[in-house]
Amino acid sequence: MAQASADMPYFINPSVNCKQSKKIEAYDHAMTELLALLEGESDLIVIMSSINCILKTHFNYYYWVGFYISDGQKLKVGPYQGTLGCLDISIGRGVCGRVAATGKTIIVDDVHALDQGKDHIACDPNSQSEIVVPVMNSEGNLIAVFDVDSSVKGSFDEIDQQYLEHIMSVFFTERKHSTNLINHL
Ligand code: SME
Repeated sequence: MAQASADMPYFINPSVNCKQSKKIEAYDHAMTELLALLEGESDLIVIMSSINCILKTHFNYYYWVGFYISDGQKLKVGPYQGTLGCLDISIGRGVCGRVAATGKTIIVDDVHALDQGKDHIACDPNSQSEIVVPVMNSEGNLIAVFDVDSSVKGSFDEIDQQYLEHIMSVFFTERKHSTNLINHL
Protein backbone atom coordinates (compact mmCIF):
# COMPACT_ATOMS: atom_id res chain seq x y z
CA MET A 1 0.00 0.00 0.00
CA ALA A 2 1.29 3.48 -0.87
CA GLN A 3 2.84 5.21 2.13
CA ALA A 4 1.73 8.73 3.09
CA SER A 5 4.37 11.26 2.14
CA ALA A 6 5.30 14.58 3.68
CA ASP A 7 5.68 15.95 0.16
CA MET A 8 2.45 17.67 -0.79
CA PRO A 9 1.25 16.40 -4.17
CA TYR A 10 0.71 18.97 -6.93
CA PHE A 11 -3.09 18.88 -6.54
CA ILE A 12 -3.07 20.05 -2.89
CA ASN A 13 -2.10 23.43 -1.40
CA PRO A 14 -1.01 24.14 2.18
CA SER A 15 -3.89 25.24 4.44
CA VAL A 16 -4.41 28.91 5.33
CA ASN A 17 -6.38 29.73 8.49
CA CYS A 18 -9.08 32.42 8.39
CA LYS A 19 -10.92 34.54 10.94
CA GLN A 20 -14.39 33.66 12.18
CA SER A 21 -16.20 36.36 10.15
CA LYS A 22 -14.77 34.92 6.91
CA LYS A 23 -15.70 31.40 8.04
CA ILE A 24 -19.34 32.41 8.65
CA GLU A 25 -19.54 34.08 5.22
CA ALA A 26 -18.05 31.03 3.50
CA TYR A 27 -20.28 28.54 5.32
CA ASP A 28 -23.37 30.59 4.44
CA HIS A 29 -22.36 30.59 0.75
CA ALA A 30 -21.55 26.87 0.82
CA MET A 31 -24.87 26.04 2.50
CA THR A 32 -26.82 28.03 -0.11
CA GLU A 33 -25.05 26.14 -2.89
CA LEU A 34 -25.56 22.75 -1.24
CA LEU A 35 -29.28 23.33 -0.67
CA ALA A 36 -29.76 24.24 -4.33
CA LEU A 37 -27.49 21.47 -5.66
CA LEU A 38 -28.95 18.69 -3.48
CA GLU A 39 -32.62 19.65 -3.54
CA GLY A 40 -34.57 16.37 -3.64
CA GLU A 41 -31.36 14.28 -3.70
CA SER A 42 -31.60 11.04 -1.74
CA ASP A 43 -28.48 9.11 -2.80
CA LEU A 44 -26.01 9.12 0.07
CA ILE A 45 -22.88 8.84 -2.10
CA VAL A 46 -24.00 11.75 -4.28
CA ILE A 47 -24.68 13.84 -1.16
CA MET A 48 -21.33 12.98 0.46
CA SER A 49 -19.33 13.63 -2.70
CA SER A 50 -21.04 16.98 -3.24
CA ILE A 51 -20.47 18.14 0.34
CA ASN A 52 -16.76 17.32 0.01
CA CYS A 53 -16.46 19.28 -3.22
CA ILE A 54 -18.40 22.40 -2.18
CA LEU A 55 -16.68 22.70 1.20
CA LYS A 56 -13.20 22.14 -0.23
CA THR A 57 -14.01 24.84 -2.79
CA HIS A 58 -14.93 27.45 -0.16
CA PHE A 59 -12.35 26.77 2.57
CA ASN A 60 -8.61 27.12 2.04
CA TYR A 61 -7.81 25.41 5.33
CA TYR A 62 -9.58 22.20 4.26
CA TYR A 63 -6.59 20.00 3.38
CA TRP A 64 -8.33 16.58 3.57
CA VAL A 65 -12.12 16.26 3.65
CA GLY A 66 -14.23 13.15 3.59
CA PHE A 67 -16.46 10.55 5.16
CA TYR A 68 -15.74 7.31 6.96
CA ILE A 69 -18.73 4.97 6.74
CA SER A 70 -19.71 2.79 9.68
CA ASP A 71 -20.83 -0.83 9.23
CA GLY A 72 -21.37 -1.08 12.98
CA GLN A 73 -18.06 -2.89 13.47
CA LYS A 74 -15.59 -0.47 11.93
CA LEU A 75 -15.25 2.64 9.78
CA LYS A 76 -14.47 2.24 6.07
CA VAL A 77 -13.21 5.13 3.97
CA GLY A 78 -16.00 6.70 1.90
CA PRO A 79 -16.05 9.63 -0.52
CA TYR A 80 -13.17 12.04 0.14
CA GLN A 81 -10.90 14.66 -1.41
CA GLY A 82 -7.20 14.77 -0.53
CA THR A 83 -4.18 12.53 -0.15
CA LEU A 84 -4.48 8.80 0.45
CA GLY A 85 -6.79 8.18 3.42
CA CYS A 86 -6.57 5.17 5.71
CA LEU A 87 -8.88 2.47 4.32
CA ASP A 88 -10.46 1.45 7.61
CA ILE A 89 -10.47 2.50 11.26
CA SER A 90 -11.60 0.55 14.33
CA ILE A 91 -14.41 2.11 16.36
CA GLY A 92 -12.83 3.82 19.37
CA ARG A 93 -9.42 4.29 17.71
CA GLY A 94 -8.13 7.60 16.41
CA VAL A 95 -10.18 10.79 16.27
CA CYS A 96 -12.68 9.26 13.84
CA GLY A 97 -13.08 6.07 15.84
CA ARG A 98 -13.67 8.03 19.07
CA VAL A 99 -16.33 10.17 17.40
CA ALA A 100 -18.01 7.01 16.10
CA ALA A 101 -17.91 5.55 19.63
CA THR A 102 -19.30 8.63 21.40
CA GLY A 103 -21.42 10.35 18.74
CA LYS A 104 -19.79 13.66 19.76
CA THR A 105 -17.75 16.08 17.63
CA ILE A 106 -14.01 16.32 18.38
CA ILE A 107 -11.81 19.32 17.50
CA VAL A 108 -8.01 18.86 17.73
CA ASP A 109 -5.75 21.93 17.54
CA ASP A 110 -2.54 19.88 17.29
CA VAL A 111 -2.95 16.25 16.23
CA HIS A 112 0.74 15.52 16.93
CA ALA A 113 0.17 16.21 20.62
CA LEU A 114 -2.09 13.15 20.79
CA ASP A 115 -1.14 9.53 21.46
CA GLN A 116 -0.40 8.40 17.90
CA GLY A 117 -2.07 5.18 16.83
CA LYS A 118 -4.45 5.36 19.79
CA ASP A 119 -6.08 8.81 19.95
CA HIS A 120 -4.91 9.94 16.50
CA ILE A 121 -4.18 8.10 13.26
CA ALA A 122 -1.84 9.97 10.90
CA CYS A 123 -2.91 9.09 7.35
CA ASP A 124 -0.83 12.06 6.15
CA PRO A 125 2.11 13.58 8.09
CA ASN A 126 1.08 17.02 6.81
CA SER A 127 -2.11 16.93 8.90
CA GLN A 128 -1.75 19.33 11.86
CA SER A 129 -5.28 19.99 13.13
CA GLU A 130 -8.60 18.22 12.65
CA ILE A 131 -12.34 18.25 13.25
CA VAL A 132 -14.51 15.13 13.09
CA VAL A 133 -18.32 15.32 13.21
CA PRO A 134 -20.78 12.41 13.68
CA VAL A 135 -23.30 11.68 10.88
CA MET A 136 -26.65 10.33 12.10
CA ASN A 137 -29.51 8.99 9.97
CA SER A 138 -33.20 9.81 10.52
CA GLU A 139 -33.44 7.02 13.10
CA GLY A 140 -30.63 8.62 15.10
CA ASN A 141 -28.14 5.86 14.26
CA LEU A 142 -24.53 6.76 13.46
CA ILE A 143 -23.92 5.92 9.79
CA ALA A 144 -20.62 7.76 9.23
CA VAL A 145 -18.26 10.41 10.51
CA PHE A 146 -17.21 13.52 8.59
CA ASP A 147 -13.47 14.25 8.86
CA VAL A 148 -11.60 17.44 7.95
CA ASP A 149 -7.83 17.88 8.29
CA SER A 150 -5.79 21.06 7.98
CA SER A 151 -2.05 21.29 7.33
CA VAL A 152 -1.75 24.05 9.94
CA LYS A 153 -2.49 24.00 13.68
CA GLY A 154 -5.64 25.44 15.25
CA SER A 155 -7.76 25.70 12.08
CA PHE A 156 -11.06 24.58 13.59
CA ASP A 157 -13.32 26.12 16.22
CA GLU A 158 -16.95 26.35 17.37
CA ILE A 159 -18.01 28.00 14.11
CA ASP A 160 -16.89 24.97 12.11
CA GLN A 161 -18.55 22.67 14.63
CA GLN A 162 -21.89 24.52 14.55
CA TYR A 163 -22.05 24.72 10.76
CA LEU A 164 -20.79 21.19 10.07
CA GLU A 165 -23.19 19.66 12.61
CA HIS A 166 -25.99 21.63 10.92
CA ILE A 167 -24.95 20.44 7.44
CA MET A 168 -24.87 16.80 8.64
CA SER A 169 -28.30 17.23 10.21
CA VAL A 170 -29.90 18.82 7.12
CA PHE A 171 -28.54 16.34 4.55
CA PHE A 172 -28.46 13.13 6.58
CA THR A 173 -30.58 13.21 9.74
CA GLU A 174 -33.51 15.23 8.41
CA ARG A 175 -33.63 13.45 5.06
CA LYS A 176 -34.73 9.96 3.96
CA HIS A 177 -32.20 8.28 1.66
CA SER A 178 -32.64 5.91 -1.26
CA THR A 179 -29.44 3.98 -0.61
CA ASN A 180 -28.26 2.02 2.39
CA LEU A 181 -24.57 2.71 2.91
CA ILE A 182 -23.91 -0.88 3.90
CA ASN A 183 -24.72 -1.83 0.29
CA HIS A 184 -21.75 0.26 -0.77
CA LEU A 185 -19.28 -1.45 1.56
N1 SME B 1 -6.84 11.38 11.51
C1 SME B 1 -7.96 10.45 11.51
C2 SME B 1 -7.75 9.36 10.49
C3 SME B 1 -8.31 9.66 9.14
S1 SME B 1 -7.10 10.59 8.18
O1 SME B 1 -7.02 11.89 8.86
C4 SME B 1 -7.94 10.88 6.67
C5 SME B 1 -8.11 9.81 12.91
O2 SME B 1 -7.28 10.07 13.79
O3 SME B 1 -9.09 9.07 13.10
